[in-house]
Amino acid sequence: MKGLQLLATGGALPGRVVTNEDLSRQVDTSDEWITTRTGIRQRYCCTESEDAATLAIAAARQALARSGLAASEIACCVAATLSAPTATPSVACRVQAALGLPENRPAFDVNAACSGFIYAIAAAHGLLNTLGGRYALVIGCEALSRMVDPADRTTCVLFGDGAGAAILELAEDVPFAVTLGARGSEAIRVGGPAACDTAPITMDGKAVFRFAVETMPRCLQTVLERSQKTLADLDWVVCHQANSRIIDHCIKHLHAEPSKFYKNMDRHGNTSAASIPIALHEMVENDLLHPGQTLACIGFGGGLTWGGMLLTYEGRK
Ligand code: COA
Repeated sequence: MKGLQLLATGGALPGRVVTNEDLSRQVDTSDEWITTRTGIRQRYCCTESEDAATLAIAAARQALARSGLAASEIACCVAATLSAPTATPSVACRVQAALGLPENRPAFDVNAACSGFIYAIAAAHGLLNTLGGRYALVIGCEALSRMVDPADRTTCVLFGDGAGAAILELAEDVPFAVTLGARGSEAIRVGGPAACDTAPITMDGKAVFRFAVETMPRCLQTVLERSQKTLADLDWVVCHQANSRIIDHCIKHLHAEPSKFYKNMDRHGNTSAASIPIALHEMVENDLLHPGQTLACIGFGGGLTWGGMLLTYEGRK
């Protein structure tokens, strides 16, 4: 079966920056507690006129422009999100309309929480192989600031908003591997947008931490085995940016080179399904990810779910 390679990225961040200092005026917390426990220093939050779909459209538009492709060449559009402004139209359908993507192609949302972007890429891969077509638009977008209880210090300090988008190409003989999994659990629970006032995010932080440090190295090893590569073959590992200490555990467990593990949670917090594509876009923008490089992306989160993929960047900027 053909694999996917990453062609171009886009990103969009909302207009309001909320620092740890800002939060320490809202709840009983401190910059010191948040930084040492999570590595997070600030996060971007939606203004009144922004939501997961407006961010998704901006990120997707940028990725499409960077790819140099026409909208008519996009064979499917999949958006990963757990904070869409409406259940329907989906974010992906809103993107289809805004970008003028062809109507005779699929557009839909995937909810696998923080693993969503990997799930969405796996879905796009399957669609291109099944329905035909060469290029996929995959988006991760969230407005989690709308879904936390602003008075709950155990969650409101962790999450942020944003969107990242990727254009992927189906190609012969490219390194590509995916692993996905799920274990039904209430360890992270989020009400739908309509129920937001009564059911904001709740989480068993310690259980999720244990789950993450057990799952991430296993996912990475699985995609390495499936693509017959070793850690030394990877230029980058892009983990879900939930917590710096979780990534450090993974590095230690794998005896890996820390500089290969990209981290940006200090600026964004945990943006769930958006965290990996935001990181990819930043890496392209900052000339860290170069054409021909191989990377693994590893996600874990609510569901519980997990996912890993290995692919190359054949960049267009
Ligand atoms: N500021 C200050 N104190 C806080 C706080 C905050 N924002 N949040 C919790 N605390 C307090 C707790 O009330 C507790 O106080 P107590 O000892 O008096 O009861 C103390 O800090 C320790 O809380 P605990 O939950 O044991 O902290 P922790 O070391 O487990 O860190 C997390 C909490 C959430 C940072 C950590 O468990 C974690 O990162 N888990 C993974 C979460 C995650 O990544 N979720 C997303 C997955 S996609």
